Amino acid sequence: MKLLEINNIKKSYGDNEVLKNITVSVNEGEVVSVIGPSGSGKSTLLRCATMLEKMDGGELIYFGKKAAWNDKSGKSVYATKAQLKEIQSYFSLVFQNFNLFPHFTVLKNLAHAPINVHKRNKDEVYAQCRELLKRIGLADKENAYPCQLSGGQQQRVSIARALAMNPKILFFDEPTSALDPELTSEILAVIKELAKEHMTMVIVTHEMNFARDVSNRIIFMEDGYIVEEGNAQELINNPKNIRTREFISKFD
Ligand SMILES: Nc1ncnc2c1ncn2[C@@H]1O[C@H](COP(=O)(O)OP(=O)(O)O)[C@@H](O)[C@H]1O
Ligand SMILES: [Mg+2]
Repeated sequence: MKLLEINNIKKSYGDNEVLKNITVSVNEGEVVSVIGPSGSGKSTLLRCATMLEKMDGGELIYFGKKAAWNDKSGKSVYATKAQLKEIQSYFSLVFQNFNLFPHFTVLKNLAHAPINVHKRNKDEVYAQCRELLKRIGLADKENAYPCQLSGGQQQRVSIARALAMNPKILFFDEPTSALDPELTSEILAVIKELAKEHMTMVIVTHEMNFARDVSNRIIFMEDGYIVEEGNAQELINNPKNIRTREFISKFD
């Protein structure tokens, strides 16, 4: 079953064409990594897929439900607020800079949206959030504030916060790029655990070995295009396109 379909999306900022007709689909249970040089449009793709940014043209479909489609002139038209609200509940996004609420405790960071946005039962939410904190090894930090945690711990909390929304798909935008190398591995380990449990994920990363090990499929983007897409092992070990090869060789 296709969880997400992104069809022919286009996005410009002024006359800077950032996404030039990008088509991507993600199956349920699949892990897809997106790699590519800085400025190639990876974050913009995630921001369009999660509707933080409006596309100029193209379709966006979650579980067969259209979030956006083209009008006659080829411009994206979005579904109603109520329809989008349901679709938005399917995904969560983990950012590079954690984006935790600084004035909330760890536990409240996790519980806030499930209680206030999803209007779920408080006791049930708190129980789930404590379970999630246990899973990421931070059960003893529920009353701490984000500033009292290391960067790696903060990022683990923001992953747990995303999971507390019970998403069907998780998006990560360079989840380790704000971290020191020794803290990177603890985040990658959490994401690998999720992959083992068949969580559907789209991960923008510059960690090539991680992308190869954790993903089913890798997409290489450059200059607003998908240059190459394929099986993770093959794309990293034996890229077909010369530009992919050049990009990957820089990481050896
Ligand atoms: N909000 C914005 N306003 C104007 N230009 C933007 C904005 N966001 C991104 N861009 C431009 O779009 C291009 C792609 O950026 P981005 O998607 O962040 O690339 P990547 O994540 O691959 O580094 C860059 O040229 C960037 O300067
Ligand atoms: Mg980016």
